Amino acid sequence: MPSRFVATLAIAAALTQGARAETSLERGAYLVKGPVACGNCHTNPAPGSPELGGGTRFTDIAFTAIAANLTPDPETGIAQWTDAELVNGIRNGKRPRGSTIGPPMPVLAYRGMSDDDAKAVVAYLRGVKPVVNRTARSTYRIPLPDSWGPTVTSVPAVSDADPVKYGDYIVNSLAHCTECHSRPVDGGGVDRVNGLGAGGQVFRGPWGLSQAPNITPSGVGHYSDAELKKIITTGERPDGSKLKPPMAVSYYASMTDKDLSAVIAYLRSMPKK
Ligand code: HEC
Ligand code: HEC
Repeated sequence: MPSRFVATLAIAAALTQGARAETSLERGAYLVKGPVACGNCHTNPAPGSPELGGGTRFTDIAFTAIAANLTPDPETGIAQWTDAELVNGIRNGKRPRGSTIGPPMPVLAYRGMSDDDAKAVVAYLRGVKPVVNRTARSTYRIPLPDSWGPTVTSVPAVSDADPVKYGDYIVNSLAHCTECHSRPVDGGGVDRVNGLGAGGQVFRGPWGLSQAPNITPSGVGHYSDAELKKIITTGERPDGSKLKPPMAVSYYASMTDKDLSAVIAYLRSMPKK
């Protein structure tokens, strides 16, 4: 091959690389507005509510929880948390002074979030418009654990080269699909070992009741890839019926096609439940 041609190829490759390389802030914006969907809970669904301003109320037999203000307001938001404290809050469910962040914050899913992705989420939060909103305190009728497990200090990045592995990461650690879609256990929480993806959890809200179905191949295996993508990103089934809340459909709508394909590759690989 003539060397000029090789050099041109190298430049072309470098250019495509450059065009694709995402900054941490861009990655954070994609994650928060897409698969990790912090705003599905932390942005109040009441019309006109500010992004991530908190105040959404979650009622369950075991708790009345109020989502916190995640904007960088110094008094009522998270401006005073350091980056490390925020990463620790997301992955270990601990506040800077040691108290435990309670459900339904999906800490058990976010425990698997990579260092790079957790830092990217924090970079995005820092740039959200600050709003003054002192949210009410949550009440838990069950004791919260001192910790959600051994302290997570570092999680390596997960390569997107293998769709099944990367889909596992999205489903279980970013988009927290299995926090809702796994079999519930008495006393709260889900069985992520034997009931992963099995469904059964019931959600109460202004919509009445909804129940998360089985998302392993025995539950959703009959849908085509295109049908699954449509359900996940629009909430509409092939028969035209619409999913009730609280699935983060409006967030998953901005997931890249590559990430959605990885999600589906992983769902198809799950052991049947
Ligand atoms: C399924 C709902 C849900 C999702 C999704 C969610 N959270 Fe939360 N989060 C909550 C609730 C509810 C609380 C309040 C819990 C309590 O009072 O103990 C909370 C509390 C927090 C706190 C503690 C704030 C404080 O001032 O005490 C932080 C930090 C936090 N969430 C960050 C995040 C980030 C970042 C994301 C996205 C990566 C996220 N949360 C996604 C429901 C959620
Ligand atoms: C906050 C809880 C929650 C999260 C997170 C969530 N879901 Fe759901 N999902 C539900 C509920 C509840 C339903 C059923 C709604 C109904 O029947 O009206 C549902 C329905 C579905 C369905 C329809 C299945 C059928 O048989 O028609 C699919 C597919 C699905 N979810 C996949 C996913 C995937 C993939 C993710 C992650 C990318 C996800 N869900 C995240 C709660 C959730």
